[in-house]
Amino acid sequence: MGGIFGLVCTSKVPDGVVYEGLKRLLYRGYDGTGVVFIDESGNLVVRKHPKPLDEAAKHVDLIKVPSNVVLGHVRYASRGRPVYENTHPLTDCSNSVAVVGDGVIENFDVIKEELERKDHVFASRTDTEVFAHLVEEILKSSKTVLQAFTQASRELRGVYAIAGLVRGSRKIYVVSNEQPVVIGLSRECAYVSSDVPSLYGFSDEVLILGDDMLAEVGVEDVRIFDVKTLSEVKDVVTKKVKHPVGIAEKAGYPHYMLKEIYEIPESLMKTTYTLMDKYLRLASMIIYGARNVYVIGTGTSLHAGLVSAYYFTDMAGTPVNVISAAEFPYYALDNVSTGTVVLAISQSGETSDVLRSARMAKQRGAVIVGVTNVVGSRLSLESNIYLPIGSGPEVAVPATKTFASTLATLAILATYTGLHTGVIGKDDLEKLYNEIREFARDLSGKLPSIDSNVDRVVDKLLRRESLYVASSGINYPIALEGALKLKETALIHAEGIQLGETRHGPMVLVRDGYPVIIVKPIEEVAIELYNKVAKEAQSREATIITVAFDAKGYGDVVETLPTSKVLSPIASAVALQLLAYRLGFRRGMPIDTPPGLVKALTT
Ligand code: F6R
Repeated sequence: MGGIFGLVCTSKVPDGVVYEGLKRLLYRGYDGTGVVFIDESGNLVVRKHPKPLDEAAKHVDLIKVPSNVVLGHVRYASRGRPVYENTHPLTDCSNSVAVVGDGVIENFDVIKEELERKDHVFASRTDTEVFAHLVEEILKSSKTVLQAFTQASRELRGVYAIAGLVRGSRKIYVVSNEQPVVIGLSRECAYVSSDVPSLYGFSDEVLILGDDMLAEVGVEDVRIFDVKTLSEVKDVVTKKVKHPVGIAEKAGYPHYMLKEIYEIPESLMKTTYTLMDKYLRLASMIIYGARNVYVIGTGTSLHAGLVSAYYFTDMAGTPVNVISAAEFPYYALDNVSTGTVVLAISQSGETSDVLRSARMAKQRGAVIVGVTNVVGSRLSLESNIYLPIGSGPEVAVPATKTFASTLATLAILATYTGLHTGVIGKDDLEKLYNEIREFARDLSGKLPSIDSNVDRVVDKLLRRESLYVASSGINYPIALEGALKLKETALIHAEGIQLGETRHGPMVLVRDGYPVIIVKPIEEVAIELYNKVAKEAQSREATIITVAFDAKGYGDVVETLPTSKVLSPIASAVALQLLAYRLGFRRGMPIDTPPGLVKALTT
């Protein structure tokens, strides 16, 4: 995955332009940087280094490019560690095709196997490299470059944007399916990029490449084709490039947190395409055969772990013990031995509590199954097996899209486990994948209205210093997560609590408009409890806000996306994340960087 930025100009590419473009796309990846250009003799020249842009530029020249056509990339390592071989651009066997990519090619292993049978040799462990070899293979049968790119893209499944250069041609070819690609034009150059704001100052208007489209970008013209029919597309959507300086890297959003919440649909899609069947089979088999299973994590990752206990019970009939990685050494070690599985969750893969507990458990013979967003992180390297959630880089300290993708990963893993225990059947797995993808599509359309529902109730919390977030059932951990987000983002004291527990003491604080935010349970059996607690809070003059999957509830109702039990924690988390964001915004808080907090607590 990553960010793509390239240009074709009438004369030599101006110094620093590709560097500036990649800098604006840094939010899309910092695990490697590279460029490829066509030299005077028509050959491809690759310069790359497995580090973020600034550091990579100390090792290879990314500023001066002696060519009129160049393609650059910043990499987020979703498949293959951050090492030189896996850094884009990636080339074919004869160094005649170079590609850079964003997204995930789901069926890359099948394509790779076929190409290996035809003697192709792969240099990287990435999925994108298959595209270069595919084009090389098709070009052997005297097809044009345009035909080769279209034919190759027809073989791909997944969500991806791939741009490439071919020896001897001075055009950029780019294909896209559900991953953003825009094409900008100026008098001297034509640009290809992963987002609109990166083109600020370079181009006033962009063409948006739609799904299953291919663009042939040359100095004379830009032509767009439908990949399926190879017919030329004339009515391409265009958009004005209008962004003030300084916010380009946030793609127009005032904060990374908001941008990342709006990326949840894309993140969920990527999760479903990133997770690989063979690793899910292996991990679930290990869990199935375990004597006991501990799920560890901290903060938001711990809350995801708490939701997983419901998933493992419902879908696999497998009980798991969920505990903070910070507590694990003082509580669980005596029960850890050969036969124990530790499911270690960490977005960053670097949290010291998680690594320490995982190492201790490993020393006692446990098998570690890691769940992380960062391939190449210490957790990914030290786990016996790890599952990458494939969310893409998350910049804001408050975790949002990675929480959603971690939940989706855990639901999928629990479902695989259920296949072994016999609690569910093969159809259920396919159903879940389809459900997640459909949910992602629906959420993408519904997010703005959830956001405005939230915005309407924020005023009621503006001058408060303390509140409860309550729920029951599978959404109880989301009450904890919502409270954590409110603390980090709005700097308000918030306590996550089980609905039933409010009646055993905490209700004494509920008076004079004290805010009680309730996620209405998805489980029918818990509705009576919700009604009882909400009524009691109402009689004590609480300010009640209900996050509901339907329009019905006590107090002000924030309606979120109606969905199934398994995806309801994602739907309710999105509403609470937006609530925390909007409240933090109105209170003027440093949302992306809460005071004294860092993205990964490594010490
Ligand atoms: C969440 C947050 C923290 C992290 C926790 C674990 O918004 O800021 O609670 O969730 O530090 O981090 P990872 O998942 O990277 O191990």
